[in-house]
Amino acid sequence: MSKSSDGNPFPIVVLISGSGSNLQSIIDHRQDFEPGIDICTVISNNPEAYGLQRASQVGVSTTVINHQDYPNRSRYDAALMTEIDRHQPMLVVLAGFMRILTTEFVNHYSGRLINIHPSLLPLYPGLNTHQRAIESADKEAGATVHFVKPEVDAGPIIIQARVPVYGTDSRQQLAARVLAQEHLIYPRAIQWFAQGRLSVRNDKVLLDGNESSKQMVISDEI
Ligand code: GRF
Repeated sequence: MSKSSDGNPFPIVVLISGSGSNLQSIIDHRQDFEPGIDICTVISNNPEAYGLQRASQVGVSTTVINHQDYPNRSRYDAALMTEIDRHQPMLVVLAGFMRILTTEFVNHYSGRLINIHPSLLPLYPGLNTHQRAIESADKEAGATVHFVKPEVDAGPIIIQARVPVYGTDSRQQLAARVLAQEHLIYPRAIQWFAQGRLSVRNDKVLLDGNESSKQMVISDEI
């Protein structure tokens, strides 16, 4: 594991609900840069999430906090916060965590809570992004990593990746093309955060103090 200048890898907690392919890309890239990344734990609201196995396979601890065990959103998010804070992460990473978060939760992690969304935000917040892009006959689709604000799928954009949409695309084909890019941009966004290279001014994310062309990745296929 790479070490940061203070000798410690950068502690993050990752929240998932499903397959965890983005988690896998974070696992695979966690030693690629300085400081390395320490995934303190992976938390899932879904006990069946395949991402839990991905974490266990590489010796990363996992926690299930099942939303069905809680009477309401507020109690659930409070339990989530307690578990996350126990690990004292510097960054909380939402990687396919399919829950709407309370304002209390989002504010608690303000500036250190990031999400990945499979569209070119502000286009298509919410679900079914690929189907909506196809139905709108969009020529391009993509993915966005952003700081989280209380509104769903909103907040200052850290990095986006753009891919082409072909006339023959099924929802699954487009999703796969976008997901391949997600796996590249999420580790990169975490790297920038861990290296202290991100700042936010007027709701815009700056990389090394500048608006940067590196914040838009364009897939080779375009
Ligand atoms: C990804 O498309 C991500 O953008 C969205 O949920 C999906 C999670 O996929 N938020 P995975 O669990 O990382 O494979």
